[in-house]
Amino acid sequence: RKASMIVDKDFVISRIDDRLYGSFIEHLGRAVYGGIYEPGHPQADGQGFRQDVLALVRELRVPIVRYPGGNFVSGYDWKDGIGPKESRPRRLELAWRTVEPNLFGLNEFADWSRAAGSDVMWAINLGTHGVDEARNIVEYANHPSGSYWSDLRISHGYKQPHAIKTWCLGNEMDGPWQIGAKTAVEYGRIAAESAKVMKWVDPSIELVACGSSGRGMPTYPEWEATVLDHTYEHADYLSLHSYYGNADNDTATFLGRSLEMEDFIHSVTATCDYIKAKKRSKKTMMLSFDEWNVWFHSNNADRKIEPWQVAPPQLEDVYTMEDALVVGCLLIALLKHSDRVRMACLAQLVNVIAPIMTENGGAAWAQTIYYPYLHASIYGRGQALVPLVQSPKYDTKDITDIPYLESIAVYDDRAGEVTVFAVNRDLENALPLEVDLRSFGRCEMIGHTVLEHEDLKATNTAASPDRVKPRDGGDTSSDGSKITATLGKASWNVIRVR
Ligand code: AHR
Repeated sequence: RKASMIVDKDFVISRIDDRLYGSFIEHLGRAVYGGIYEPGHPQADGQGFRQDVLALVRELRVPIVRYPGGNFVSGYDWKDGIGPKESRPRRLELAWRTVEPNLFGLNEFADWSRAAGSDVMWAINLGTHGVDEARNIVEYANHPSGSYWSDLRISHGYKQPHAIKTWCLGNEMDGPWQIGAKTAVEYGRIAAESAKVMKWVDPSIELVACGSSGRGMPTYPEWEATVLDHTYEHADYLSLHSYYGNADNDTATFLGRSLEMEDFIHSVTATCDYIKAKKRSKKTMMLSFDEWNVWFHSNNADRKIEPWQVAPPQLEDVYTMEDALVVGCLLIALLKHSDRVRMACLAQLVNVIAPIMTENGGAAWAQTIYYPYLHASIYGRGQALVPLVQSPKYDTKDITDIPYLESIAVYDDRAGEVTVFAVNRDLENALPLEVDLRSFGRCEMIGHTVLEHEDLKATNTAASPDRVKPRDGGDTSSDGSKITATLGKASWNVIRVR
């Protein structure tokens, strides 16, 4: 069994929008309190921002972070999180049944994002709020001065506007679990009217309308068509959300789930283009895959959490080596569709289904899934090239024709470097791979980094944070414009040439 790949610089899918490597911080569990913000922690700065966490985030070069939810946002009053901390209210938070102390809000998040080197993707509340709050928050965040809300921001110590460019029009409004859930028509109307006034306040912003909260929803994909019927002129992106799990311990199928992500992207793209045709529009709707990840490990533990605590340990999935392989496949799937998927958010960033974990008062460390995300974010910038791949395939009871090799190449035309990301899904055997880089002429190896572990269930924990870690020196050689590699069984590979 062997696989091959042709990488040609003329076969470009798209220039990748850096925001494909975005992430997400929700007021949920210990993402904010005990995650990015923990006054009194030995590593916290004067604002309570944990510097150990910030260092791990900066290493990831996260271009944009979605905030403040998630399900949380549909009951959130953004005004609770501004102004003097001592007068901010403690509220019952109904999405996750906790108490929200509001010690961290819009201005703190803008400061934290700046410190992280990230832009803000702000989600507005379209569950309990509407058009009025939609325009007010844009005025508070982005208007320079001389109006009620902009002057209020200035009085809070923020003379410069935050210039938040990307805004989500609510979150998962199709889900019955959502505070203030809506039918597609109800949501389409409120989203369109909110979008209109938000852009009247600041015409430079970009807006994301809610697609379905998953392709398993009964209203999918009719939801997309109806919502776009109302919002097509005003929105710039449509959202997709999807999580994957391995509750049945069927690893071969789990590794093939990225094919389902691709199917999902195909059908949402087709729905967008149907509405484009119906409206005789010249505009092409782009996609924001603003929640994606593996999520299943913590489901049982979460059922046992007592309600009405501040920042309990919710959704704390401890990720395994095999989860890292799935995240690698999902990243490759996003890159394959980077002509339409312009933004994506790994959900989430710290503690809550996250690549970074912390202990309250203690250490911060990288989970297994941190590494494929890191590699893609650092080396996956430039042009995504069409993956002309030949690979043997396998079937499982749920999915057929899963290629053992999942791969894509990215050409960083500024640096003149090519990176091949490759997962060998074969759980038993190594996979020989030949990469033909014919259009690049003679190539020189930069390196071959590998993430693998003999135990697919191996995890990183506070006690052993480096159990699953990438190593350099994979089995690759180059000869002219050909690379020959051996991809270890169940491995993530990053092969770089110039
Ligand atoms: O990311 C966790 C939750 O998953 C988000 O709050 C919600 O939008 C989705 O259902």
